[in-house]
Amino acid sequence: MSTAAAAPRRTPVCIIGAGPAGLLLARLLRLSGIESVVLERRSREHVARRVRAGLLEQGTVQTLRTAGVGARLDREGLEHHGFRWRLPDGSAHRMPFAELCGASVWMYGQQEVVKDLLAAHTAEQSLYFGVEDVRIAELRPDGALVRCTLDGRLTEIACDFVAGCDGFHGVSRPAVPAGELTGHRLDHPVAWLGVLAAAPPLSPELIYAVSDRGFALQSMRSPTVSRLYLSVPPGEGVDHRTDAEIRQELDRRLTGGAGTLPTGPILERVLVPLRSFVAEPMQYRRLFLVGDAAHIVPPSAAKGLNLAVADARLLAEALDGWYAHGRRELLDGYSATALRRAWQGQEFSAAMTALLHPTPQESAFDRRLRGARFERLLSSTAEATAFAEQYTGLARR
Ligand code: APR
Ligand code: PHB
Repeated sequence: MSTAAAAPRRTPVCIIGAGPAGLLLARLLRLSGIESVVLERRSREHVARRVRAGLLEQGTVQTLRTAGVGARLDREGLEHHGFRWRLPDGSAHRMPFAELCGASVWMYGQQEVVKDLLAAHTAEQSLYFGVEDVRIAELRPDGALVRCTLDGRLTEIACDFVAGCDGFHGVSRPAVPAGELTGHRLDHPVAWLGVLAAAPPLSPELIYAVSDRGFALQSMRSPTVSRLYLSVPPGEGVDHRTDAEIRQELDRRLTGGAGTLPTGPILERVLVPLRSFVAEPMQYRRLFLVGDAAHIVPPSAAKGLNLAVADARLLAEALDGWYAHGRRELLDGYSATALRRAWQGQEFSAAMTALLHPTPQESAFDRRLRGARFERLLSSTAEATAFAEQYTGLARR
């Protein structure tokens, strides 16, 4: 339940969803002097606790600094200049992406970004949690009407624009009439079991381990908390393996069974399906789709959060153009610009997914092809540089 005052009956921008996309959009609009109302279904505590991705591209970090929420990230975020590949023959190879393309990435959990955005919200801003039955009741060429249940009362909010920041399962995308929007979807025949462990990471840099047993990733959230992933068959339940089995499998894939993976209690686990989806266009009348509401990527290249941040920034600039200068070109161009970046993100995420995972029926021929791709990546500076550019940021314009 929200304890804040009753929502205004009219606002320039109604934002549905308080994930990173919705909160950042509200913050950037506020800095431009544009009011908004944010309607979130879950509680504030739930939103701030949700552990998700944790790799921020340089462009994302710059956007967060511009939004005035970069201070803790600059203090506590871990700047990385490279990662390691571990290949099926047990060999290790460093990918020095910063040296190759001049850009770093930062390890800083998505929930920390969300906490910083929540902390930056000022009292007079309209941010409502526990809002039920959010529905876009009218979507006209010149405005919209959003209905919801707020503190048990039916509430109507008239607005100029709706920002659909409500994730893949939200209500915004389905509000677009059938036939106006095309969904492109690709399901990958594998899932990731992710764990957060109270243990220092095996190495200070990420390790992407490709082995005959499957894929494993060693990542981290801090010097004492590891984030680890195992590829698992898509039908496997989140509780299928015991903690000891998960640790043993991670150790086999990441160290070849050397027993050197630091151990510590598993704090939480999550099953992540590997899915790709894009909705085109990302705008219908006065509704703009932002982040996961418009597109999702498999986690392989950690692009989801970065694409969401890039969308929010683009829409904030477009709305600023509209309100401050009466210009509509940026709004009209939002979908095309955001989709160009989203498809770049899709392409790299799909390529990375194919590189990291044997398919269930992988033939010896397919395995050799993946080996050849790795060899090219490890022996050609041009190839490695192109990879490094995509890994560290599609957000450059
Ligand atoms: N009404 C109000 N809020 C809703 C509704 C609804 N009907 N449906 C969903 N929401 C809220 C969710 O509770 C969530 O807080 O919308 C928010 C969407 O947030 P995210 O799913 O985090 O999506 P986004 O902000 O686009 O961020 C993308 O999230 O899934 C990861 O990898 C992805 O890191 C990326 C990031
Ligand atoms: C993560 O830390 O969650 C993470 C890092 C890199 C990836 C995917 C996930 O490629």
